[in-house]
Amino acid sequence: MLHALGLPHGGDRAIYARRVGSRDVQRVGDLIARRIEERIPAVYLTGETWFAGLPFHVDRRALIPRSPIAELIERRFSPWIDPARVRRILDIGTGSGCIAVACAKALPRARVDAVDISPEALEVAAINVRRHRLGRRVRLVRSDHFSALAGERYDIIVANPPYVGRREMSGLPPEYRHEPPIALAAGRDGLDSVRVILREAAAHLRPCGLLVVEVGNTETAVRRAFRRLPFLWLEFERGGGGVFLLTHEALDPGSCPAQRGGGQERGLCPPPPPPAAAGHVPVPGKRGGRKATG
Ligand SMILES: C[S@@+](CC[C@H](N)C(=O)[O-])C[C@H]1O[C@@H](n2cnc3c(N)ncnc32)[C@H](O)[C@@H]1O
Repeated sequence: MLHALGLPHGGDRAIYARRVGSRDVQRVGDLIARRIEERIPAVYLTGETWFAGLPFHVDRRALIPRSPIAELIERRFSPWIDPARVRRILDIGTGSGCIAVACAKALPRARVDAVDISPEALEVAAINVRRHRLGRRVRLVRSDHFSALAGERYDIIVANPPYVGRREMSGLPPEYRHEPPIALAAGRDGLDSVRVILREAAAHLRPCGLLVVEVGNTETAVRRAFRRLPFLWLEFERGGGGVFLLTHEALDPGSCPAQRGGGQERGLCPPPPPPAAAGHVPVPGKRGGRKATG
């Protein structure tokens, strides 16, 4: 409604007392009608949304930003990595660029590579990189996962890849059909993209680096397919789940100098080491984090 009236989001409460003219009422009514009748997600109608407290341009070329990873970025990936030491971040499947931009804002000493296979999504990401004046620190790259990143290594690899299986795709509510299918569909079981990431991430992580991946409700399938990996499943204060975290050491035992007894050489390993056991762990939040469940 604020969008239709040309009023700022989160502005002065006094605007709620303003009288609205008949032309404005018509404009709001037209938007609501399109939302209901055409089942178009509201932010595709307004062209704007917020992620990690930052505004983003959105349109149908890219998925609507909604990943719970926003909360982890706002916490600067702490306590799993020392934020002050993070220099390079990779965002796989950047879409609108929301994760890449939010990472660059949260970690001002880091450079971010943001890759996507879709040229259309990269156009949207470019709008957002420009909007946030991050052209010097966020590099947009067209790449099928890691294919254009030979020899590159990162302190953090973060990904919200497609993870919807074939059967689930066919049952999605109409709203999802306005989003690019390539942003959602990931083969028969929804694991096509996650498999590539888990196979190739270790070769692109620096010692003591982190891999963070959203797999949504494909969590159970991921646990079954990769029984031997000690996933940490993150719990978020604002809800959402299906996000796992793996240390480089967990992906590639022996890769971390600190855990080999060599001390915290690059200082990337967090002061309290990451929990040893796999399970659910809370992202420490403003309220001190929720209780761990596993
Ligand atoms: C679920 S969307 C996530 C978009 C954005 N990161 C976000 O959180 O809103 C997945 C993204 O992965 C991209 N993608 C799909 N297959 C890919 C591949 N093989 N390599 C790189 N990116 C891919 C899609 O184009 C899409 O932008």
